[in-house]
Amino acid sequence: MKKVAMFGLGFVGLPLALSFSMRGCQVIGVDIDEELVSQLNQGQSHHLESYEGRGIEDILREQLDAGRFRAVTDGRIAMQECDHIIVTVGIPVEKQAHDMKPLLSVCHTIGQGLKKGDLVLIRSTVIPGTTREVILPILEEESGLKAGQDFDLAYSSERIAEGRAFHEFEHMPAALAGWDEEATRRAFELISIVTKAPITQASCMEVVETSKVMENISRDVNIAMSNEFALFCKSMGIDIFEVIAVANTHQRVNLLTPGPGVGGYCLPNALYYLLPKAQELDVPLRLLTTARQVNDDMPRYVADLVLRNLPVAPSKARIAVLGLAMKDYSNDDRMSPALAVIEALQEAGCEVRAFDPAVSCSYPFKVDSLEEAVSGAHGIAILARQHGMDTMNLDLFQQLMADDGQPFIVDTKNFYDPEIVWKQGFKLERL
Ligand SMILES: NC(=O)c1ccc[n+]([C@@H]2O[C@H](COP(=O)([O-])OP(=O)(O)OC[C@H]3O[C@@H](n4cnc5c(N)ncnc54)[C@H](O)[C@@H]3O)[C@@H](O)[C@H]2O)c1
Repeated sequence: MKKVAMFGLGFVGLPLALSFSMRGCQVIGVDIDEELVSQLNQGQSHHLESYEGRGIEDILREQLDAGRFRAVTDGRIAMQECDHIIVTVGIPVEKQAHDMKPLLSVCHTIGQGLKKGDLVLIRSTVIPGTTREVILPILEEESGLKAGQDFDLAYSSERIAEGRAFHEFEHMPAALAGWDEEATRRAFELISIVTKAPITQASCMEVVETSKVMENISRDVNIAMSNEFALFCKSMGIDIFEVIAVANTHQRVNLLTPGPGVGGYCLPNALYYLLPKAQELDVPLRLLTTARQVNDDMPRYVADLVLRNLPVAPSKARIAVLGLAMKDYSNDDRMSPALAVIEALQEAGCEVRAFDPAVSCSYPFKVDSLEEAVSGAHGIAILARQHGMDTMNLDLFQQLMADDGQPFIVDTKNFYDPEIVWKQGFKLERL
């Protein structure tokens, strides 16, 4: 069976590593995060993934016990023992600028340990052209080996949604392309161990790199359109969620859901992977840039919905934020719009208490229970749905919320039936 090195053990890398080991591969996971590596080797993970009714920790422990998976911090060990190398270390974006350092550092490590006959498969989302123009030269220079002659290099996009990783590795159609035909064939063979859905073999790596970025941006733009329509519908006095439900009965229309913004690692970053290449090629990206701005403006809009319902001055107001994750039922709060909503509310002078049972990061404003968040609050902002967060307990809200002024709920998730909320004496503000 194949010996697989998985560089990066985050949202993608860990479940992907376990997907290979569950199918009999010998997998070594590599991550620079020492604490993460130590937790994984003790069978601990905070991820919410599951497969066929079993949680990721169960699967992790089973694979550790079977000796098919272990995590290390030293990539050289994995390079010595494995000949199928998969990269899932991404390109972070901070203040609209991308940072290649983590990916470059991984490529240097891989290059230094590269052996004849190895296959390197890049699964990170990248700036189109990166595999050929940036990664290939590093691997060749560090190793003194030649792609096509001594080792193989391929790119395959990663399409999973967090929370559905195991299922989607297996059932989501994949796309790949290699540096040459042999690399394409070997990447196909490797991915086929896990993926049972159709695997498209594209004509070149740039097609797959670009299609990945395009897939993400298409969702960003689609959501931006729904968000812009949300503003329009609110002024019209009609319900955006109903408008979308009606529009989506058209068989060739698929509008996504509006919300407090678009967060996470994937959708907001995609434009900043495309822009550097577009600038190099002198191609303007007017629509895509505007769509990003529309989504970036949403948290401020949601904060304004809260502020305009305050029964007291912002400096005397307390707001309960329910749901910190970047999307419903996720534990991922990276670049979450909820954080931007909270920042805007705090800037306006409000005190914020936020609760999310799935998010593990700590923040000064984060509390450990729904009761703590809601206690003494003048208003509630629902920013993400979560299991284990009883947002329907309106009696509890009524008992615990402040009594100076009418309590209100800003519902960005179309969670509540307005009749029920009104009957309980709350004001309801929807998107
Ligand atoms: N999260 C998703 O749902 C998703 C979906 C599709 C594609 N992607 C893409 O997959 C890639 C990985 O995303 P993710 O969400 O798993 O990221 P992540 O941040 O959860 O995981 C990346 C891991 O890489 C590790 N790392 C950083 N530098 C390293 C180095 N030099 N050597 C070894 N490990 C290193 C980090 O410690 C981290 O654990 C990104 O390119 C992302 O755009 C993510």
